[in-house]
Amino acid sequence: MKKMLSKVLKKITPTKKEIQLEQELVAQIRKKLSRIKGNHSHLEWCGSSARGTHLSKDKDIDLFLMYEKNISEEELKNEGLATAKKLFRGFKWEKAYSQHPYIRGIINGFKVEIIPSYLITNANEKKSAVDRTPLHNKFLLEKMSEEQKKDTRLLKQFLKGVGAYGADLKNCALPGYGVELLILHYGSFKKAIEGINEMKPRHIIKFTDKINEEGIKNILKNQNNPLIIIDPVDDKRNVASALNEEQFQRMIHASKEFLKKPNIKFFFPKKIKPLPLKKIKQYLDQKEIIAVKMPFLKSELPDIFWGQLRREEKKLKNQLEENDFKVTRSTTWSNEKDVFMLFELETLTLQKSKKIFGPRASDEENSKKFLEKKRKIISGPRIENERLVLETEREYTNAKEFLEKEIKKEAKIEQKTIRKSLKKAKVLGEKELLKEYKKDFAKYLTQYLIGKERFE
Ligand code: CTP
Ligand code: MG
Repeated sequence: MKKMLSKVLKKITPTKKEIQLEQELVAQIRKKLSRIKGNHSHLEWCGSSARGTHLSKDKDIDLFLMYEKNISEEELKNEGLATAKKLFRGFKWEKAYSQHPYIRGIINGFKVEIIPSYLITNANEKKSAVDRTPLHNKFLLEKMSEEQKKDTRLLKQFLKGVGAYGADLKNCALPGYGVELLILHYGSFKKAIEGINEMKPRHIIKFTDKINEEGIKNILKNQNNPLIIIDPVDDKRNVASALNEEQFQRMIHASKEFLKKPNIKFFFPKKIKPLPLKKIKQYLDQKEIIAVKMPFLKSELPDIFWGQLRREEKKLKNQLEENDFKVTRSTTWSNEKDVFMLFELETLTLQKSKKIFGPRASDEENSKKFLEKKRKIISGPRIENERLVLETEREYTNAKEFLEKEIKKEAKIEQKTIRKSLKKAKVLGEKELLKEYKKDFAKYLTQYLIGKERFE
């Protein structure tokens, strides 16, 4: 185990050269800032690169441009953004939004974000969620040992390897900060894996007993999260709020399997080789799959569009099921150019006749209502197993046609960007799906059809 972990660490720890480039970059920006007049106090380097818990080749630098609390929000926004733009002078940048606007760009190959923020010492004073981030930084820099930084990297890579890392709407798993907190809580990589292995839904992790009970009650009441990590700098917030049930169970399953049989493939899963087309055909012959292909639109942050995709997938799945097309599995894949939504069904066609069960004939009032209702009757009414039974006509018997109609409808009623994408959507049957079997999607479809976790 020790040998394996040090092998992993060698691959994932940024090199001295990488660290040096990061430090030089931040020093260069700080120097630039010192020549800019304004109300700012200083530049605070946050995020995992500031704490030495980032993975090699991760080129993210999060910089917080700090202002005293007596500056108005309007001033902070205007001056903060203007100053940030000056810092990017000569480089490629753009304005972006999270909870409030900031500037991001590329400097010497690094993705740099400059975020105007308030200097606060307690999360209660925050005016927006970003103000909390420098507090996270301070907390972790004080508490985390050098050994634990290595263990954080190991746990990040482990979760990445098994496909359960990242709090964005594509991944629905843990953020980097959450992983750091798990290491602090359990003490080490090994103990954290053992801890995850023991978790049951609604597991709560807290760093002090002196927390606002009301806050915890609210977190528990308002959210249906499988894991609750109370933010040590803000006890009203659950750091693991993006983690869904599927990713929670994946973390636990992976930890169990790893403890049974530790193997480097948990950290670095084997690359997927697309199966030959013949094999894919064989799989598809045994399954009933329809797909929706549409463009991934870049008019906003990818994370926002991913949220819309996830929601649309759920909506279409529910509509299929409401019309008796039982969905056994559904998923959305995208390389952020094309999107493929896959719906696997029990059956692609249904019979025209649909059986509906009514009340018992002895229930006079309800029987009357049941029989009086206007509908196209194919067969019945009759008694079957003590109930009244009717067979009526189904509106849709073909899943592909139904989905085509449903998408056209959605493209009219949806308000968000997804609407433009739905307008260009195509519903693909298995033959058409095979035509799309190339490059990254071929890898994905192979993995989907083989249907195993990456580490198995
Ligand atoms: N953050 C947070 N909750 C999130 C995402 C981000 O509190 N869901 C805050 C954390 O303080 C985090 C910082 O924003 O340290 C930067 O976010 P990000 O770059 O996404 O994460 P890192 O901690 O840098 O982790 P990674 O190694 O994955 O980049
Ligand atoms: Mg980061």
